[in-house]
Amino acid sequence: MQRFYLLFIAIFTLVSTHAQEANYDENLVPDFVLPPLFQVGNEKTTVDYWESERRPQLFEMLENEMFGTGPSDLQTSFILNKVERVFEGKALRKEVTLQISKGGKTHDIGLLIYLPSDKSSAPLFLGLNFYGNHTIHSDPGISIHHSWVANKEEFEIHANRATEESRGVRVHRWPVEMILEAGYGLATIYYGDIDPDFDDGFENGVHALVDEEDKVNTTSLATWAWGMSRALDYFEQDPSIDGEKVIAIGHSRLGKAALWAGASDQRFAMVVSNDSGCGGAALSRRRFGETVARINTVFPHWFSPNFKKYNDKEEDLPFDQHTLAAMIAPRPLYIASADEDQWADPKGEFLSGYYASEVYELYDLTGMATDEQPAINTPNIEGKIGYHIRTGGHDLTQYDWEQFIAFADKHLKE
Ligand code: GCU
Repeated sequence: MQRFYLLFIAIFTLVSTHAQEANYDENLVPDFVLPPLFQVGNEKTTVDYWESERRPQLFEMLENEMFGTGPSDLQTSFILNKVERVFEGKALRKEVTLQISKGGKTHDIGLLIYLPSDKSSAPLFLGLNFYGNHTIHSDPGISIHHSWVANKEEFEIHANRATEESRGVRVHRWPVEMILEAGYGLATIYYGDIDPDFDDGFENGVHALVDEEDKVNTTSLATWAWGMSRALDYFEQDPSIDGEKVIAIGHSRLGKAALWAGASDQRFAMVVSNDSGCGGAALSRRRFGETVARINTVFPHWFSPNFKKYNDKEEDLPFDQHTLAAMIAPRPLYIASADEDQWADPKGEFLSGYYASEVYELYDLTGMATDEQPAINTPNIEGKIGYHIRTGGHDLTQYDWEQFIAFADKHLKE
């Protein structure tokens, strides 16, 4: 009897969490106090204190309570498969396999790189993609991956396998030629090549090589970020790439991954979060649009099991997403929102950058150069934290890229 009762409670909780309407009314945002970035009453707010004590402490909290960990004891080797001149000689396309191994078992991750031909050592944007490297451009030379992929009628992806039909279906998100012309390289990995995005108990992708006892606080987000760091390992040893100017970029869940990549690996020189929303740039305590309870219910594999303690209890979080933004300091950080993407809480995305600025100030830098959310289609790139909100929906557009490039030109390239 008691069993039935518990089952009933469990189902009821699940259904009511799902049914709970998202709040889109600014008047219903609860009052909240953000956990301080520096310990209250601490006089030693210096760069040294931040770097040697406080940052590691906050990082550990974010890791334990939210983002979890990626694999730790796998080997990576690089296989350069293909190098070809493309786009009438204007660019070089490289395909590299990141071969991950442990105890005789291997797992391959496909890395696609475009570099401007007229540069000897190019700065580069690295972003994961949702459906496959071959979807980002119609270039017939891009290999098609063999990993599990979510079905999508519109892209003719069926039976969880990518085929020729989906080549170039996501070109609008990746203006490759424009990025190259601006003097940047672009590299991408299909995120499912690292870890397929479903709740599989961490059995597939790179996790197939990881011992059970090492999976205690494993999450998909930390594993995607880990994959980005393995690509960076490759960039650092390829002389045609400037390994000190690699920008981690991502849209939506992959924006959350890019932020965590930048937080956990300080070799990334700059980070771009596009519409990353809940669990990314948006402050959790605002409970505007997507909430912690909702994200943990629908995507249980993204974050640490510990993060579920904060379902409907955002005020108990020992940090908020401004803490994540502060992990990027003093490096340039760009946060982008879209006005129709209320699910991702544009204002909350702006505010985390705004509140992270105090760490940039320790370095005598301006973080967010304004204390008011910039008007629509009016980017602010003055400080080391840039921001824009554009018209339109949840997407990664050419307009977004134009701003990322302008920001990188100003804060990274020189
Ligand atoms: C869902 C999810 C978001 C996520 C988005 C995406 O909407 O709720 O948190 O950012 O998917 O990745 O497209």
